[in-house]
Amino acid sequence: MRKNIVAGNWKMNKNLQEGIALAKDLNAALTADKPNCDVIICTPFIHLASVVPAVDASIIGVGAENCADKVSGAYTGEVSAEMVASTGAKYVILGHSERRAYYHETPEILKEKVQLALANGLTPIFCIGEVLEERQQGIQNQVVFDQLAGSLFDLSAEDFSKIVLAYEPVWAIGTGLTATPEQAEEIHAYIRSVIAEKFGAEVAENTSILYGGSCKPSNAKELFANPNVDGGLIGGAALKVEDFKGIIDAFK
Ligand code: PGA
Repeated sequence: MRKNIVAGNWKMNKNLQEGIALAKDLNAALTADKPNCDVIICTPFIHLASVVPAVDASIIGVGAENCADKVSGAYTGEVSAEMVASTGAKYVILGHSERRAYYHETPEILKEKVQLALANGLTPIFCIGEVLEERQQGIQNQVVFDQLAGSLFDLSAEDFSKIVLAYEPVWAIGTGLTATPEQAEEIHAYIRSVIAEKFGAEVAENTSILYGGSCKPSNAKELFANPNVDGGLIGGAALKVEDFKGIIDAFK
C-alpha cells in the first residue's frame, strides 16, 4: 500500500531559531492531534541537526532540500548526501524546479544526486513538472516523461521503489495558481502509467506521487481526493503551523 504524505519545503526561509520554533510548534500540534498521513519537513541544511532532535521521529520525518552530486572532497560550499544522513535526516528533495531553473541542475546531475541519496539511505522526493509554455503547448506529459527518464530510468525497480515523486507544475509554484483536481489527476495517472511500463505494475501502485504548487488548506482535500494524488509537497503554506496542519488534516 502506498503512503499518503504531506511534505513541507521551507526553501530559503526561517533562520535557525525560527526554524527550530516552527518544528517544535508543529510537533506539539501533531502530538496533540495525530496525523492520518506521513508528515515530512524539509529544511535548510544548517537547520537539520537541530530540527531532527526537536521533533518526534514517529510523527515527523526530516529532510534536506538538496544534496551534492559528488561523494566528498574539494567542492567548496556543497553538502553531501552522507552529511545530510549523518544529521538523522531521512529525506532529500531533489530536482525541484527552482534548482533546475536557477542552479542549472540537469537530468544527468540529478541522476548522480539520486544515486548518492539512495546509497546513503535517504529517500529522495524527486520533483518533476512543466513550465507554463509547455502546458500551453500541451506537451506536459512529454516533459515529465523526459524528466523521469533522464534521471531515474537507470535505477533498478528495487531502488526506484524507494523514491517519492512530486509533480509540481512550475506555473503553480508560489503563484497562487493551482492545477485543478482534474489536471492533477490526469497527469498523476499518466506518471503512474509511465512507472508501470518501466518498473512494473506493483512498483507503480506502491509509488507515492505528491502534488505541489500553491497547495493550501482550502484546496488540499479536493486535490488529495483523487486516486492518483497521494499527498502534497508544500512551500509557502508549510511556514505556518496552522496552514500546514490544515493541509495535513485533509487526510482526516
Ligand atoms: P508553493 O511551493 O506551495 O509555495 O507553491 C511548492 C514547492 O515549490 O514545493
